[in-house]
Amino acid sequence: MIVARTLAEFISAYNELPNKSDIGFVPTMGALHEGHLSLIRRSVAESTSTIISIFVNPTQFNNANDLATYPRTLEADCALVEPAGVDIVFAPRVEDIYPEPDHRIFNLGGLDQYGEGPRRPGHFNGVAQVVTRLFEIVKPTRSYFGEKDFQQLAILRYVTEDQKFPISIIGCPIARATDGLALSSRNALLTPAQREAAPHIYQCICQAREWKSTLTPDEVVARITEAINANPELETEYIEIFNARTMEPVHNWEDAQEIQLGCAVYAHPVRLIDNIKLK
Ligand code: PAF
Repeated sequence: MIVARTLAEFISAYNELPNKSDIGFVPTMGALHEGHLSLIRRSVAESTSTIISIFVNPTQFNNANDLATYPRTLEADCALVEPAGVDIVFAPRVEDIYPEPDHRIFNLGGLDQYGEGPRRPGHFNGVAQVVTRLFEIVKPTRSYFGEKDFQQLAILRYVTEDQKFPISIIGCPIARATDGLALSSRNALLTPAQREAAPHIYQCICQAREWKSTLTPDEVVARITEAINANPELETEYIEIFNARTMEPVHNWEDAQEIQLGCAVYAHPVRLIDNIKLK
């Protein structure tokens, strides 16, 4: 496994790969966990070579403190992924990705209007900036993303098609701890009391599956918000029940064929997100 810390190092490692038309790519921001490993294992199983990137992308953070405190654990990350069969870890410097400030504004097909979009202004455009830049450098055959960032996955599918990248976007199921908490790099920032409280989020949102037979989507949102906030360690930022294709909130269960519930909950100052399929 080669760890490339600059674009030049990456290019020389890339040039040695045996079959450049069969590359699996897992873009990450590091602080890797079992969720990332599930993406990496799938890429290794399906591809001649697997490249992962570890880059904490400044343009997708709309909160300076979140960027400053985002966990950075390159050595542990490399130790974790090497046995999984990764060929290249690309851990570039900011200037390798952004030699000049990136002013591109992407067409996100309106998929950023709801959910995380209005709560994190500029976030998805920043994700599109870094992922398209990485796609140009890595030129993968397929790229793997977790369904935990459900809206990100939908937006990246859209952008990949809109920008005509010949890359298959593959979504992979959320990896959860045994107590149900969705695995996230941010979980490392939780205090022991918050970590104990955090599985409450998944337990509460799963109740929507029962409540939906008697309550409207808006009533379900209100019930879940109340249930999550009953835990003193947690504060709901939003719960949305939405059309899984357009991300648009639904107010009747008949409004869409595929319906998802998404949420963001603070265990202050850590922001946790999760989602489940409802229909
Ligand atoms: O999901 C993430 O970790 C990031 O948003 C991504 C896709 C690696 C872009 O920085």
